[in-house]
Amino acid sequence: MSATAKKLLVDVHSHVYLPRYASLLRSRSSVPKICSVTTSDGIPQERLLILNHEPSGGRPVGSQYWDREEKLKFMDKHGIDVSIVSTANPWLDFLSAPDAQLLASELNNDLEQYCSTSPRTSNCNYAIKRLYGFGLLPLVPEITTSAALDIVSQITQLPHLRGLIMGTKGIGRGLDDAALDPVWDAIEKAQLVVFLHPHYGVNAEVWGEENNGHVLPLALGFPFETTIAATRIILSGVLDRFPSLRLLLAHSGGALPALSSRLASCIDHDPIVASRLKHDARYYLGKLYLDAVAYGPEELGFASDVIARADRYNPQSSSTPVLSRSIGSKRMLFGTDHPFFPPLTSTEKWKSVVENLEAIDRVQGWSQEDRDGVCGANALALFNLIQ
Ligand code: URA
Ligand code: ZN
Repeated sequence: MSATAKKLLVDVHSHVYLPRYASLLRSRSSVPKICSVTTSDGIPQERLLILNHEPSGGRPVGSQYWDREEKLKFMDKHGIDVSIVSTANPWLDFLSAPDAQLLASELNNDLEQYCSTSPRTSNCNYAIKRLYGFGLLPLVPEITTSAALDIVSQITQLPHLRGLIMGTKGIGRGLDDAALDPVWDAIEKAQLVVFLHPHYGVNAEVWGEENNGHVLPLALGFPFETTIAATRIILSGVLDRFPSLRLLLAHSGGALPALSSRLASCIDHDPIVASRLKHDARYYLGKLYLDAVAYGPEELGFASDVIARADRYNPQSSSTPVLSRSIGSKRMLFGTDHPFFPPLTSTEKWKSVVENLEAIDRVQGWSQEDRDGVCGANALALFNLIQ
């Protein structure tokens, strides 16, 4: 890889509502939906209502959510060379099985088109486009295994789709459902990256009655949902049965890095689970990839420590395991969550992006090479972008 290629900035957490999906949301009268309102200043506005118990009449939504030119302008403004774009939540979760299957196939083709017709990066010696994508699977109750596998196969054949985004519901019983084994198997064989992303949060009753806008569901509910889903995947032995599965967890894995030793201890003391897994729970943290959407250098440093520590629990590793943040950084990847978290007042650059870049820059114990890896080189390797 050339020195230039190493310096690419790659955003692995970047969303879109493709026009076909936005039209569907506009046609709906119940959540999830996009509705038109007039603000108190008489300005017409579209609003996005997707969360359960959506606070404050939803969020304003505009062309940044569907227009590819807006995505490229945002990338240019922030020096982002390449984005791996995924449909934003709630994906196809609310559809019937036949509708989900048809829309998955159509949206995967739309996303391939969106990416394949994007310009090439100007910042690299390799023929890399500026946009790649995560496809969608029709994971809804009553979908047949063969229908889900057909879509895995479709994604595999679309050259600009390098993975798929997945919510936490599976086909209705969560991601520890043994019925998903054929799907994990096909994904593993196809070497697709699974981007595990939250939508539902946790029971909204725990947020109380104060109007805190979207803060509690987004800051806490989202990461707790990811924490629970990833933990259930670990507990079900999915990572023992499919050891080459590549799971990328949104929002730096939520609370899982901080709770992994407690998880290991609870497993060790539980007669039902104690002998179920091949490894100590902390081992599995080293098999995950985490986006670097944590907004602080301390959190990124800590998450990379926990990933690096996994080697201690690997019976195959050398007898003197090296505990190094550098090792952990290899599994962390820059992301923005665009077009969510726009600045509230007009600023040149988005605070949510600048903060994540500054956090990467300030992690103690990461070398310049580690930072370049988190910013781009790790993604180039994970998504096989340089062939
Ligand atoms: N809010 C959402 O609904 N989804 C995201 O991905 C980020 C913020
Ligand atoms: Zn997101």
